[in-house]
Amino acid sequence: MSETRTPAETAALLGRTDVNDLEEILAITNTDAEETIRAVKDNADAIFTWDYEKGARPALNKLYEKAKTAQWNGETDLDWSIEVDPEKWFVGAADPRFGPEGSLARRKNSPVAKWGDKEWATLAHESLTWRMSQFMHGEQGALICTAKIVETVPWIDAKYYAATQVMDEARHVEVFAKYLDEKVQDHYPINTHLQLLLDDIINDSRWDMTYLGMQIMVEGLALAAFGFMHQLTEEPLLKQLLRYVMADEARHVAFGVLSLKEFYEGLDAAEIRERQEFAFEAAVRMRDRFLQQEVWERMGVPVKPLVAGLLDIPQEENIFQQMLFSKIVPNCKKLGLLDAGDAWLRHRFEEIGIIQFEDWVDTGEEYETLDAVTQDREQTAAGQ
Ligand SMILES: [Fe+2]
Ligand SMILES: [Fe+2]
Repeated sequence: MSETRTPAETAALLGRTDVNDLEEILAITNTDAEETIRAVKDNADAIFTWDYEKGARPALNKLYEKAKTAQWNGETDLDWSIEVDPEKWFVGAADPRFGPEGSLARRKNSPVAKWGDKEWATLAHESLTWRMSQFMHGEQGALICTAKIVETVPWIDAKYYAATQVMDEARHVEVFAKYLDEKVQDHYPINTHLQLLLDDIINDSRWDMTYLGMQIMVEGLALAAFGFMHQLTEEPLLKQLLRYVMADEARHVAFGVLSLKEFYEGLDAAEIRERQEFAFEAAVRMRDRFLQQEVWERMGVPVKPLVAGLLDIPQEENIFQQMLFSKIVPNCKKLGLLDAGDAWLRHRFEEIGIIQFEDWVDTGEEYETLDAVTQDREQTAAGQ
């Protein structure tokens, strides 16, 4: 049986007493969506190190050397001349009837129970636009967080690697923005739960928390989400874009796992508990963002009954959403976060229905097999 958290504990973590409190979830809205910039305090010291010994951390050095040769150019390595017909591709790529909204459609009196093909096609289009927009905003979050890691991490091998990741993230923001601008010709502002999560990560003064929030949680989820979209879409430009982005992301998650594994070994029980709580809070914020309230607002669907219905779907019917956590949970296990202390994080992950992924492959080494850029270059060289 899992230990239960007191309402006060939940409130301290999330700012609400019940993880599924609908009013509280919907009360958080994006108030500066019309502004062009947003300032967030990053509360950290920039750290110089005078220990320049390259390769003192061999796993990070290997990752850095790999990253130097696996760079690609978003303008020239993707074929932007490909015509994209949103109506044709988006519906086929992600028919929402196979997802949680489909479960909702089978329930009497739900706001989507009487929908026809036209409404489902609109939802497919809006959902893809929304998801791609959140990817773009999340990529900018990664750009900023990793620039912060360059400043704050005390190890030279990690500063070197993080510098290559900053370049990767610039390229990711660039290609998602270009795809939205030229091919989708539409976008959504950042989802407020995603913004809150990025704010929390950037606000924290401790350098390892940037890694935990970004490399383990946000990028772990992104890697799983990109993987689904890559499998489902047959639109050739998006497929190639995702393949290349995933090659980079797998390295980024590995960077998080390799760095934190060493650092966590030196932390005491109270410090580890803080990391467990941070990971849980991030998981709930990421789940809330997938309620995509902005899409319902734009489509004129009553948001409250719709989101209430989505939160009510039994865990066993919500496999797609759970799968988004399939990289995060094994990585948390590898870092020792699941079972440290009284297995606090294990119990929380049980509550939100994602513990079943604990023994899936972790991402410490997976980047070798996902390196699409090197694979394509080798194939081109072999054909010449
Ligand atoms: Fe990225
Ligand atoms: Fe990344």
